[in-house]
Amino acid sequence: MGMLIPERVRQVTRMGKRLQLYLFPVIISLLFSLNGCSSLFGDKHVSAGRKLFNRFCTPCHGEGGAGDGYNAKNLDPHARDLTDSKEDYMAKLSNEEIYEVIEKGGRGVDISPLMPSWGKVFSEEEIWSLVAYTRTLHPYKGEKVNFNKAYQTVRTKNPSVKEDEFDKLMQEKVVDDEVQEEFVGRGREIFDDFGCVACHKVGEKGGVLGPDLTRVGFMLQPQFIFRWVKNPQSFKPETRMPNLGLEDEDALAITLYLSTLKGMAVVKTDVKE
Ligand code: HEC
Ligand code: HEC
Repeated sequence: MGMLIPERVRQVTRMGKRLQLYLFPVIISLLFSLNGCSSLFGDKHVSAGRKLFNRFCTPCHGEGGAGDGYNAKNLDPHARDLTDSKEDYMAKLSNEEIYEVIEKGGRGVDISPLMPSWGKVFSEEEIWSLVAYTRTLHPYKGEKVNFNKAYQTVRTKNPSVKEDEFDKLMQEKVVDDEVQEEFVGRGREIFDDFGCVACHKVGEKGGVLGPDLTRVGFMLQPQFIFRWVKNPQSFKPETRMPNLGLEDEDALAITLYLSTLKGMAVVKTDVKE
């Protein structure tokens, strides 16, 4: 009996060692997934936010967020400098306020509509990840984004627009030429109000993130324009063009306006730069 005890002890320790060997990777991966320890290894939400930011936001805000992206010089006002290099601006916004402007766009919070809305593109968790990443860009980081809440993690899939939707609306709403003219006029205005102009040139004015629409009336069928502007992601899931949440009549107005654009490509006479 006396001889058995050390034997058993040895067995137990040997088992322990083996367990340690197996458990080691498990413990490490647990550590990685724990929020509290994540700063040790790089925060997974911050890096998810950085990825999204680099694809969707840098054309205007610039790679480090200083407001110097390639599309920035076409924007008035400029895309916000998110680094607070000149003033404490971002530092004064709460996490909720930053979330809100990304979700609803400038239009939704009474600043410039040239800041697009992303609430119909990203999941809640993705927008919070963008908030968390944005916080790393300026010296005062604010309170930490709390990812322990149950945020919606999956993007909402907006239904794609049916093929005959445009023709049906035309029949219903555009009863004569006069009404059509009114829609075109309204479309011209809301092209600016919805910030389409931030990314698209018409004539000399507008951004260069999306294609020049000066001749779009020649290039695209109104049926397609309508379906595209209401839900670009249904055609191209990763497109940089956001779903701006256009109601039917606004989308109709914009489509009728764009269909009138059959101008010559603008010849650049300006040879500066
Ligand atoms: C088409 C250009 C454009 C893109 C793309 C863009 N922004 Fe902006 N953003 C702007 C402009 C312009 C402003 C300044 C609006 C103003 O000051 O009236 C702005 C302002 C902001 C602000 C400051 C809000 C405030 O309350 O003043 C934040 C935060 C921001 N953008 C985050 C983002 C994020 C995150 C993305 C990517 C998901 C993004 N932006 C994509 C143009 C853009
Ligand atoms: C943040 C930038 C951005 C904003 C804002 C934006 N677009 Fe776009 N748009 C794009 C990009 C990028 C494409 C190219 C699509 C692709 O290949 O991903 C595009 C494509 C298009 C096309 C199709 C052009 C073609 O040749 O296929 C139309 C039409 C269009 N946009 C209209 C609009 C309208 C109308 C609005 C406003 C309601 C708008 N866009 C707002 C970036 C933007």
